[in-house]
Amino acid sequence: MPLMKTTVELRRHFASDNYAGICPEAWAALEEANHDHAVSYGDDPWTARAADLIRDVFETHCEVFFVFNGTAANSLSLASTGQSYHSILCHENAHVETDECGAPEFFSNGMKVLQVPGANGKIDPSAIERMVKKRTDIHYPKPRAVSLTQATEVGTVYAVEDIKAIWAKTKQFGLTLHMDGARFANAVASLGVRPKEITWQVGVDALCFGGTKNGTHVGDAVVFFNRDLAEEFDYRCKQAGQLCSKMRFLSAPWVGMLQDGAWLRHAGHANTLARRLHDQLKEIDEVKILFPTQANAVFADLPPYVIVALRREGWKFYTFIGQGGCRLMCAWDTTEADVDRFVADLKRLLVEAPKDTPLSTADHRKL
Ligand SMILES: Cc1ncc(COP(=O)(O)O)c(C=O)c1O
Repeated sequence: MPLMKTTVELRRHFASDNYAGICPEAWAALEEANHDHAVSYGDDPWTARAADLIRDVFETHCEVFFVFNGTAANSLSLASTGQSYHSILCHENAHVETDECGAPEFFSNGMKVLQVPGANGKIDPSAIERMVKKRTDIHYPKPRAVSLTQATEVGTVYAVEDIKAIWAKTKQFGLTLHMDGARFANAVASLGVRPKEITWQVGVDALCFGGTKNGTHVGDAVVFFNRDLAEEFDYRCKQAGQLCSKMRFLSAPWVGMLQDGAWLRHAGHANTLARRLHDQLKEIDEVKILFPTQANAVFADLPPYVIVALRREGWKFYTFIGQGGCRLMCAWDTTEADVDRFVADLKRLLVEAPKDTPLSTADHRKL
């Protein structure tokens, strides 16, 4: 007997990879973990195994912590990079700046987030230098860290050389390099590199490794390649309400995802579907693709009346991310049929929908 009556037709949306459910590998691990008793607060075999698998993935001895979500992972790891009077440089579209409700500032007791520009959602390395040199007096929050997002908020990916160029600047100015990897798996799948090649081998000190968007139910991992930064991080997590008492249920899905490569398969699948969507959209005259599609998101400008019409037909997608446009996000469970159906609806509505319907402010809300 279902617990929820579904009154609307079931369908997969393009609003967010967070709309997707739990992938089979994570689900199976959760189920297996749900036997017997296990030691709480992270001293259990699942958590030890998950951390070891992460070390295997990165081919190095890093410190690993599991927290409930990406905001906590970013905020707490960034807080570990400095003191309250320091600043964190990030891209102007970075999630840490635009979508974390000031959590990095809050959890660091006041580190200031400073925005730097760059094309296609990627930090321009020379902008780091400009920002650092802009002010060096006592009245300005001293730059301490650079945070980059991999894959970026606009669905692009930093290549190895891009990260090296940023690393050169962080080395020059003594800054810590932080990576928001909410979609790290999509970046690895896109670049076809070994995870170490875009992290510790190119100067990344701390990575927030996203699990939720990749197919787990909840929980992201904080990975410290610079192990000094991990000192007392467990206390930071506990104080912030991020130490899960039944930790095995945060860590077990990671075992399911990592032990046979499901994390990369799912990310690669989502990327492939985004490419399919991109390829179909680019053939439509009224649609303008806004950024290179390098991971699992397509950003496109659509005529406002079609945005309204698509939403009235029940499609959900965001129009407030990055620099505007529609964000169409694919997930581990997106199918070719989902993509084809969306594009078919779009093509039909471009012809059929009333062209004088304006896009209201409410239409921009987060769905
Ligand atoms: C780039 C990026 N970083 C981090 C996050 C993590 O956020 P949350 O706290 O919702 O898990 C997200 C989620 O949308 C994101 O897109």
